[in-house]
Amino acid sequence: MTTRALFARLSMLTIGVGLLGLSAGCPEVDMGGGVSEPPQAFTDASATRGGALYDKFWEAAGLNEPTTDHPLWATRPDTDSNTRVGSDTWRCKECHGWDYKGVSGAYSSGSHRTGIAGIFNTTISAQDAFDLIKTDHAYGDAGLSDDDIWDLTKFVLDGQIDTDDIIDGAGFNGSAGAGEAVYASACMACHGADGLMIPPGADEDHDEFVGLLANDNPAEYQHKIRFGQPGSIMPPQAELLTNEQVADLGAFSQTLPEAPAAP
Ligand code: HEC
Ligand code: HEC
Repeated sequence: MTTRALFARLSMLTIGVGLLGLSAGCPEVDMGGGVSEPPQAFTDASATRGGALYDKFWEAAGLNEPTTDHPLWATRPDTDSNTRVGSDTWRCKECHGWDYKGVSGAYSSGSHRTGIAGIFNTTISAQDAFDLIKTDHAYGDAGLSDDDIWDLTKFVLDGQIDTDDIIDGAGFNGSAGAGEAVYASACMACHGADGLMIPPGADEDHDEFVGLLANDNPAEYQHKIRFGQPGSIMPPQAELLTNEQVADLGAFSQTLPEAPAAP
């Protein structure tokens, strides 16, 4: 074998090792076919904070609420179903979904449908995701710092879960009995035993009760539980609860009343 052929073999091996490393968050394959480490800023970033930014970035980052439409909004394949304008069009979830599956998930139909693809199982590299979010998606211009955008990148690559693992046609597939104990220790102080207490800091007309959201929109519920409610004191649970516990909590929350009984 010539030296050149041997070298080609060796670099193929390196690429193979790099690909294996990707899933473990280790070296990444760069476009040149070599191996490059993800930037330190990515390693240091917080997927949990990125998950909050995925919701309402301006609430999570303390920025002004956008007044224009997201630049990609006009290009959505289906412009008839979802006619929202302004800040809603900047929420990652509005285009990619609470289940991260875009047009292949819950937003395949209904008033949130845009026809845009999901980001679950994306194979994009950390640097490419950062560049896309900052520049192509214009979140840099919207005021997010590089650290914010690394947090979003970390969420995209490490913070998503397959919601099909915890949600099926009937709702959360966990144990309501096990969820009751988690609820008592992690939620009850702010939401009350029946989920109908107005949580501290919320408006008196608050009507998105725990039981309502768990039943109405399980994919949104799991995201709020894992990443908190941006702009409120509700803490994220992503680093404290396993996905199974989120499913248990969801199953219990689905047994709670959706609204106060009529007076
Ligand atoms: C207005 C709709 C819209 C919003 C809001 C939006 N995206 Fe996207 N996103 C798109 C579209 C459209 C694409 C496909 C881009 C392309 O391929 O040209 C995309 C692609 C992506 C990709 C690449 C996926 C891949 O595998 O190629 C990532 C990652 C991503 N978006 C993350 C985000 C994040 C994080 C946010 C919020 C900070 C966000 N997006 C907000 C429309 C949107
Ligand atoms: C420290 C107080 C606190 C704790 C603990 C807390 N929450 Fe919350 N939660 C809030 C506040 C405040 C809001 C925001 C209400 C609003 O929208 O104004 C909220 C919002 C919500 C929402 C609705 C989101 C929406 O769309 O308005 C759900 C569902 C929810 N919490 C469930 C839970 C569950 C389940 C737990 C336990 C894992 C929990 N919360 C723990 C304070 C808390």
